[in-house]
Amino acid sequence: MRIMHVSAECYPIAKVGGLADVVGALPKYQNLIGADSSVIMPFYNNAFTSKYDFSTIFDSQISLGNELIKFSVLKLSESILDFDIYFIDIKALLFKDYVYSADDTDRFLAFQIATLDWILTLKDKPDFIHCHDHHTGLIPFMTQESYKYESLNKIPIISTIHNAQYQGWMSHDHLYKIPEFNIKNIGLLDWNGVINPLAAAIKCAWRITTVSPSYMEELKIEANGLEDLLSHESLKVVGILNGIDADVWNPETDTFIIENYDVTSIESGKKSNKEWLCSEFNLDQDKPLFAFIGRLVGEKGAELLPDVFEKTLESDDISILLLGSGFKETESKLLELKSNHNGFYNAYIGYDEKLSHIIYAGADFLLMPSRVEPCGLNQMYSLRYGTVPVVRRIGGLKDTVIDIDEDGFGICHESVTVDEIVAAIKKASKFYKNQKVFNKNRKLIMGIDHSWKVSAKAYINLYKSIN
Ligand code: ADP
Ligand code: GLC
Repeated sequence: MRIMHVSAECYPIAKVGGLADVVGALPKYQNLIGADSSVIMPFYNNAFTSKYDFSTIFDSQISLGNELIKFSVLKLSESILDFDIYFIDIKALLFKDYVYSADDTDRFLAFQIATLDWILTLKDKPDFIHCHDHHTGLIPFMTQESYKYESLNKIPIISTIHNAQYQGWMSHDHLYKIPEFNIKNIGLLDWNGVINPLAAAIKCAWRITTVSPSYMEELKIEANGLEDLLSHESLKVVGILNGIDADVWNPETDTFIIENYDVTSIESGKKSNKEWLCSEFNLDQDKPLFAFIGRLVGEKGAELLPDVFEKTLESDDISILLLGSGFKETESKLLELKSNHNGFYNAYIGYDEKLSHIIYAGADFLLMPSRVEPCGLNQMYSLRYGTVPVVRRIGGLKDTVIDIDEDGFGICHESVTVDEIVAAIKKASKFYKNQKVFNKNRKLIMGIDHSWKVSAKAYINLYKSIN
């Protein structure tokens, strides 16, 4: 079974968030169970692409409206990943030191057209094309409707919604850039008067998946304008919980962390990682360490964090460390807070893969007060590293974390308010005080298996169910 994943991100090549982790792991786990799964993504100008060698396997040009744009398909020369990876190289549009920007409409339109132009020429075409998020949302439309891709219209397209907040909206002025199709079918592209790639994917893909079962249900009620469409198409929508790459995220072998550990050495392992964090960030290591890692945006409840931290630090005996970036105002408030709580609070504004691993290993609790969380990977990483998740009960968080009061192992709260998050932190601090129970719980959560094994199989079964 040949599967081609099409994505804007893939770990370790280019990562902005969880999409990269998923696309960097799912194909590997699919190959482990006998599939032939590969990835195609844009060729960016970043640390990975400057470090490795690539060979050109195809050269051509696409038409983007009236403009002819040269592109190449590159292949990674060394086999350092557990799946084949191909790149669309368009110097003027894609070869940038960022993944997303303000000019994404043309960049991802060109990426999708070049991808399909190349697939057209392949002798061994994929049996399934698996598209991820709105950046690849026009592929199901184009294979179904554009005359030039008619020979691809029997290849089933699966489209995964990682996040329905972003839909890739573009005005009808861009219509002429999409390879010619019967204009009578323009309705497939349109949602509320604009071209909406995510809506087009929902209408045209053979199957839609969401990254957790709860998120699938939540989208019928709140999907940034796509609720009715998703309800209408509900028969082809399936919720499949993401997994994690249990080789990359393994405290026993993780090369980023300060001391490796397994369930038998968890106490000393976590202690060393915590000590390093506390000395690096000037925090009190005798107090329970609460961490937040993530994008500082409304979906993650991030703008409430300065108030939450202020309140808890006033009354609770804890340390807090934050790693993230996003809204400038939230970043500034989080930085300002440092001076009042020297020794108990610190924030690193930016993106740092290594530091994130050390935080998962060294923290006692991980905070995820998300307003929207289609799946969330952080809580699954934290479980594997014996760090107790404190989460808002939503989306994938609801599907993976059970509260300690319900025979579970984490702390859950219902809504995203300063008071509820503060109360959840208080409940966690109280839980920490009983070290015997706390340590037993850490060992238990390390053993929960969230690897991709089960979900990779679920995707294969989904492909097989398409006829
Ligand atoms: P989302 O994709 O919505 O941001 P996920 O929980 O699916 O959320 O995945 C986030 C991924 O990005 C995780 O691998 C997390 O560790 C990582 N991450 C987020 N922010 C940072 C950061 N500032 N530095 C390092 N890693 C980060
Ligand atoms: C999105 C979602 C996140 C999910 C990730 C991977 O970024 O916001 O919840 O875990 O995609 O599917």
